Amino acid sequence: MSIADDLRSMRDDAVRRIDQASDLEALEAVRIEYLGKKGSLTAILRGLGSLPADERPVVGKVSNEVRVAVEDALSARRETLRSARMEARIAAEAVDVTLPGRRRRAGTEHVIDQIVDEIVETFLGLGYTVAEGPEVELDYYNFTALNHPPDHPARALQDTFYVRDLSGDVATVEGESDVLLRTHTSPVQVHVMERQEPPIYVLAPGKVYRRDVADPSHLPQFTQIEGLVVDEGITFGDLKGTLEFFVKRMFGEDRRVRLRPHFFPFTEPSAEVDVSCAICGGEGCRSCGGEGWLEILGCGMVDPNVFGYVGIDPERYTGFAFGMGAERIAALKYGIPDLRLFVEGDMRFLRQF
Ligand code: PHE
Repeated sequence: MSIADDLRSMRDDAVRRIDQASDLEALEAVRIEYLGKKGSLTAILRGLGSLPADERPVVGKVSNEVRVAVEDALSARRETLRSARMEARIAAEAVDVTLPGRRRRAGTEHVIDQIVDEIVETFLGLGYTVAEGPEVELDYYNFTALNHPPDHPARALQDTFYVRDLSGDVATVEGESDVLLRTHTSPVQVHVMERQEPPIYVLAPGKVYRRDVADPSHLPQFTQIEGLVVDEGITFGDLKGTLEFFVKRMFGEDRRVRLRPHFFPFTEPSAEVDVSCAICGGEGCRSCGGEGWLEILGCGMVDPNVFGYVGIDPERYTGFAFGMGAERIAALKYGIPDLRLFVEGDMRFLRQF
């Protein structure tokens, strides 16, 4: 067999192995085997010089043809393997743009804020405006100007959060009025009456604080909504009519309202307002503790002593005020047995509203 024949069979082996190479790495290994520095074809090409002069032209021509054939086979196979690899990658990374996207849940207003908004809207419709006052309040506004005597039990340290200064004493303003967290929204009545002449029709929603341990019916911080009306000729009948309108709007036309005599230092006469139980309609059942009625707010006619503190003439003007807890209203409206649910931030609960 001549060298030329050897070269041709080497070429055929090489081309067959190139065509069988299953990936680019295998192909490269075949290339090195033939055309690398120590490759078998390279060795022959290098050895051409030492051939007898008469063999050189034929062997040189054939080995060159073989080299070109092997290189052509290599680049053709490389091309095939590269595009196969690219196609596999594209298939693996394909995105189905027709799949539905992942939805982000939209947040909702907290149920208590929703209740406050609903109540505010009801009274805006009656011509009231919204007023606000500070949560860090003076004893004067929270108690004194609301006709609480100096020794009134609500002032006690165990009921009221007092603000302390750096020495640990209860902070005071001008050495006189203690600083505290308001225990109700009624001090907003005083602020409004100090700065505004009657007629006054305001609603004052806001947070209030009491030294209570959280339990199903108490929270140390909760939300109150205060109402105040001062005008000429305002009567207890106006108060009752207003509250009846509100209760039916809030809880439904079939609910009834009951006023029970009560006492508040800043209203006289005062009353507590009950709404008939939604479950039994007033008969008495488990849900209302057998009473048939559920307490929802406190109210009364503005005490003339309060008018005295703010300089409103009690001979000319009369007024009424009411105050309710938003958490309690929400609990009654939705049948929630534990007020703590409103402040625990459990999304499973909050998402229902
Ligand atoms: N401030 C009273 C309370 O927190 C409620 C109230 C407001 C009563 C206005 C009468 C008038 O209990």
